[in-house]
Amino acid sequence: MKILYVTSEAVPFCKTGGLADVAGSLPPALAEQGAEVAVVLPLYQRVRDRFGSQLKFECYDYVDLAWRHSYCGLFSLEKDGVTWYFLDNEQYFSRGTLYGQADDGERFAFFSRAVVRMLDHFRFWPEVIHCNDWQSALVPIYLKDDGVREDRYRSIKTVVTIHNIEYQGRYNPYVLGDLFGLDAGWAQDGTMLMDGDANLLKGAILCADAVNAVSPTYANELKMPYFAHRMEGIMRRCSNKLSGVLNGIDMKLYDPRTDQRILKNFSQEDMTGKDDCKAELQRMVGLREEAHTPVVAMVSRLVSHKGLDLICEVLHDMMELPMQLVVLGTGDQRYEEFFHWAAQQYPGRMSVRLDYNEDLSMAIYAGADLFLMPSKSEPCGLSQMIAMRYGTVPIVRETGGLKDTVQPCESWRDAGNGFSFANYSSGDMLHVIREAVYLYKDYPDVFGRLRQRAMACDFSWARSAREYLRIYATITGQAWPIHSDTHRAADTPAEEPTPAETPAPAEETISAETPAPAEETISAETPAPVEETTPAGETVSEEKKPAKKTRKTASKAAGKTAKTEKKTEKKATSKKGTAGKKKSAE
Ligand code: GLC
Repeated sequence: MKILYVTSEAVPFCKTGGLADVAGSLPPALAEQGAEVAVVLPLYQRVRDRFGSQLKFECYDYVDLAWRHSYCGLFSLEKDGVTWYFLDNEQYFSRGTLYGQADDGERFAFFSRAVVRMLDHFRFWPEVIHCNDWQSALVPIYLKDDGVREDRYRSIKTVVTIHNIEYQGRYNPYVLGDLFGLDAGWAQDGTMLMDGDANLLKGAILCADAVNAVSPTYANELKMPYFAHRMEGIMRRCSNKLSGVLNGIDMKLYDPRTDQRILKNFSQEDMTGKDDCKAELQRMVGLREEAHTPVVAMVSRLVSHKGLDLICEVLHDMMELPMQLVVLGTGDQRYEEFFHWAAQQYPGRMSVRLDYNEDLSMAIYAGADLFLMPSKSEPCGLSQMIAMRYGTVPIVRETGGLKDTVQPCESWRDAGNGFSFANYSSGDMLHVIREAVYLYKDYPDVFGRLRQRAMACDFSWARSAREYLRIYATITGQAWPIHSDTHRAADTPAEEPTPAETPAPAEETISAETPAPAEETISAETPAPVEETTPAGETVSEEKKPAKKTRKTASKAAGKTAKTEKKTEKKATSKKGTAGKKKSAE
């Protein structure tokens, strides 16, 4: 199967947020499973600066977009079984930042138009083009537009992945012709029209053969006004081709047994290194060196949807608990000022670094005991998975990918891999933090086993790659050998936990509208498949002791999941012209 993956950023070349992590890991994981994969990206200045010497010049051509006739160079690089293509146009991409420019619409229209224009020059004619977010949303639209005139464009199937629906690419419809080279009919018939704007993402969702969100829960949430930024109607209309595929993390890069970025390595079998990492973290950030005080950590952009209001409301109650708090991140001034002020109230017990610092973030993942993510919404979230890998137990709100990756602790039966709360309420969050802190302090054995379960979770990309391959197979009408033992052997390294043991909470499946799995419905007309969605789960280590009942269990959390989520209707905040807003780090 030949897949062309289109993205505006990818690790290690250029990154502003989680999309780059996904685009850096998923294509190699697809290749590992036998697909032929090429990725195409803009050749930004920073890519030229850092990777210029490794790039091979392939050819150049000209791209016609409305009245513009622009140069487009094609460079390539082979890495991890994937061909990485870079489209060059200095006028559009030789800039200091990736997004946030006044002409972002024109820049990414050029990029999308160029992807379609340069198809002849890639090493294969793709069967599937997989686009991501608004920056490449015009690709399925251009393919449909060109397909009217040329059959070969109609042979290509398209997938659109929504990483964050807040960013839609909204423009005045009068620019359709001039900026995007599209006939006004695209807006007049409603395909690209949304609240009076030409909306690139809406057009892509309607034109694509399959649409997916980055977690099953987010895929469902997108049908609700609270989460969908006015797109709920479209998402509901497209629910037959909508699915949720949980992201993974790079299990080799984030491996506490081998990671050179942390002070001491450790593993499920030997956790002593983690104690050293904790002491080192406390020293680094100026917390008292207390081995038995749980360190609660946050590594986050300091923006509202990360749930920071909850922390502002109850910070002082939190700090009455026998815990320490470390916060790393940058963002909105009001949160930066709050955390800066708050840290001064609790010297030695609370530490705040208003910074984006990879090294410190690794020290935190490795050294902390609990990882707090009370997000209002979270399409997938990667930090909670990284934290779990390093034995830092997550405390999350049950939304999007957080809900799909964290199952609440039920200590009476040794189940769950973290702590969670359902309502967006500071009281509920505080309650769960208290549970976590006291479980750590009063029942170290139980907490230790919980930590082991968190570390044993399988967040490998192989599982996501298999789900994407199933989607590709369905829309192209191909059978794909997904369940063969050979593949299972290939994607599950011997030392990794076996996904087979992964528990799959029933309610996590995407929805009743879920179409049948690929094998049963292989037809080009068939909507995107949604395989029974298995949230990343835990495997239980062999050393695990039998479940020990404790009088004081830490887990009323299970009961809490039943609480109804209070859905505060949120005004849509998307504004015209915000399309190019920077998608920054998680
Ligand atoms: C966006 C989402 C984040 C997700 C990432 C990768 O940044 O906000 O939750 O993990 O995309 O899909």
